[in-house]
Amino acid sequence: MTDHVLTEIKDRILTITFNRPDKKNALTHAMYAKIADALEDAETNDDVRAVLFKSSAEAFTAGNDLVDFQQAGSHDGSEVSELPVARVLRAFVNAEKPYVAAVNGVAVGIGLTMLLHCDIVYVADEATIQAPFVDLALVPEAASSMLLPRLAGHVKAAEIFMLGKKVGADEAVSIGLANGKCSQEDLLPTAEKAAAALASKAPQAIRMTKRLMRGDKEVLGAKMQEENIYFGQQLKSPEVMEAIMAFMQKRAPNFG
Ligand code: COA
Repeated sequence: MTDHVLTEIKDRILTITFNRPDKKNALTHAMYAKIADALEDAETNDDVRAVLFKSSAEAFTAGNDLVDFQQAGSHDGSEVSELPVARVLRAFVNAEKPYVAAVNGVAVGIGLTMLLHCDIVYVADEATIQAPFVDLALVPEAASSMLLPRLAGHVKAAEIFMLGKKVGADEAVSIGLANGKCSQEDLLPTAEKAAAALASKAPQAIRMTKRLMRGDKEVLGAKMQEENIYFGQQLKSPEVMEAIMAFMQKRAPNFG
């Protein structure tokens, strides 16, 4: 069976590669569990000084696997905070080692919100980044309902979350979601160079700087908790079922 998430530690960099190209790297529970294992290990592993997220093929990630969402929503008692994705989100909030992302192609949902937890982000010229939570009758996650308005301003964040507007490479840079854009060819080398530079710096100073820059973890955790409650409620709602069915049947949703 193909490994849908590849992890490798080399030259003090943990590289996490999304590797499910036939589904545009949509992330399943099993994939989140593997990512969470790798991120949790990275925090205590002295061989890791930086984390690099990248993807195989032309998509970064199509976000959460919608079949998994549908199944999670149809099971009574499944709490968002118990899903493997929640472990990944907690790892983001608790991270003290620097994260770098190389974003090519489409980045949807968590493909955008995870960038708010990265320290250095490069996007390919043709990358399109979107978080159409409301189009799926869902709400933002990963404390992004606080972090994106803080970064880009309320109205820009509303455009992205509520209208589902796609952000291209130039806009990603201009709103501060990415450091720079690169050609497809230069994307990975540029991100790898940044990760290598971070891995060569004084590790304690990097950790302390990240901690200082992130601010209060309690506040982020509380926002995430609030999001989880709404997300969990929506996941079980007829609105979400309709949105996911519509996606699978390749038609527009009808919310009545
Ligand atoms: N979950 C499950 N499967 C997904 C998926 C997802 N999030 N995103 C894409 N796929 C599947 C498609 O169903 C399709 O499968 P098929 O070949 O068996 O029909 C395959 O991946 C390719 O997707 P397709 O839609 O044909 O590619 P595209 O290039 O036209 O569009 C996207 C790519 C990512 C823009 C589009 O697939 C999309 O909008 N996906 C849903 C994204 C989403 O809402 N994610 C959740 C965010 S919270």
